Amino acid sequence: MLLLNPALFFIVVSLFLGTLESRLTLDYYAKTCPKFSQIIQDTITNKQIASPTTAGATIRLFLHDCLPNGCDASVLVSSTSFNKAERDNEINLSLPGDGFDTIVRAKTALELACPNTVSCADILAVATRDLVTMAGGPYYPVYLGRRDGRVSRSSDVDGNLPKPTMPMSQIIEIFEKRGFSVEEMVALSGAHTIGFSHCNQISNDLYNYSKSSNYDPQYNPRFAQGLQKACTDYEKNPTLSVFNDIMTPNKFDNVYFQNLPKGLGVLKSDRGLFGDPRTKPFVETFAADETKFFKAFASAMQKLSLVGIKTGRKGEIRRRCDQIN
Ligand code: HEM
Repeated sequence: MLLLNPALFFIVVSLFLGTLESRLTLDYYAKTCPKFSQIIQDTITNKQIASPTTAGATIRLFLHDCLPNGCDASVLVSSTSFNKAERDNEINLSLPGDGFDTIVRAKTALELACPNTVSCADILAVATRDLVTMAGGPYYPVYLGRRDGRVSRSSDVDGNLPKPTMPMSQIIEIFEKRGFSVEEMVALSGAHTIGFSHCNQISNDLYNYSKSSNYDPQYNPRFAQGLQKACTDYEKNPTLSVFNDIMTPNKFDNVYFQNLPKGLGVLKSDRGLFGDPRTKPFVETFAADETKFFKAFASAMQKLSLVGIKTGRKGEIRRRCDQIN
């Protein structure tokens, strides 16, 4: 009798569809956009070959999308006269254009092949995974069906992204708030095996550090002197930057962790990972065993890609990644 009531029937069906909609799957676009994976793969390959800074740029962009309020491509939205968007928050101003450009290119190709079907959030998650793998890092499955956020507010970013000057407790807390253990946080930080840091991120560590030392004594002295030289003109030239992993800067490997005990960590937070008793054991494990690092990184990235995802009516398929529909 109950099921014959049309109103109730509608509610039951909607609830059922709601749960179906909110489930992510690996083959989400198999029917609606069969070329999804290929198009992203082609886009990132061309882009990374033309601009090798793309991998680092995109991985960082993904982190900065996911941590504040979920992997919903809200970091890609441009500000308007009524709204200061996430990407204009101070901490995001250093996000390189290559990351944004990669997603725009993939979105353009995907809109031609399958209009109004693929979310910018899914594109960013898969492009990141493909670039990690292309740089030599591990492959991990990315579940699909995220929808794009309808809100992007600069104020949501404050306090939700790590800064190199933060004490380790605060960095741990930021990741803990999103469900990550200390081990997962250390593994994710292994992304600093590729990419750059701008000199202004380390200038306080390099010049006039304290009365007794010109630079942070946690640095290897020769490394500090090299950085001082490389960054000499940072005030005149704010684009000056240095490799995050001085030994193998473009290869996704565990050398970043091997650098840390030698004082070759660029950012204060990198050096802090070896200096703090909570994080040091994981640095040592990952430095000694690349397979363990890759396993931990892959599973933490998969977890990161599911943080705060929007499904069903909580999101939309944006027509342009930089504008809410
Ligand atoms: C643990 C706390 C972390 C802090 C304090 C931190 C901070 C930073 C800073 C300041 C930069 C340099 C940005 C610039 O000057 O352009 C940077 C670069 C980078 N970060 Fe992190 N980060 C952290 C963790 C992570 C995690 C978990 C990931 C990814 C899973 C990540 C991925 C990257 C990448 C790939 C770059 C290079 C960007 C490029 O080459 O353009 N970072 N990070």
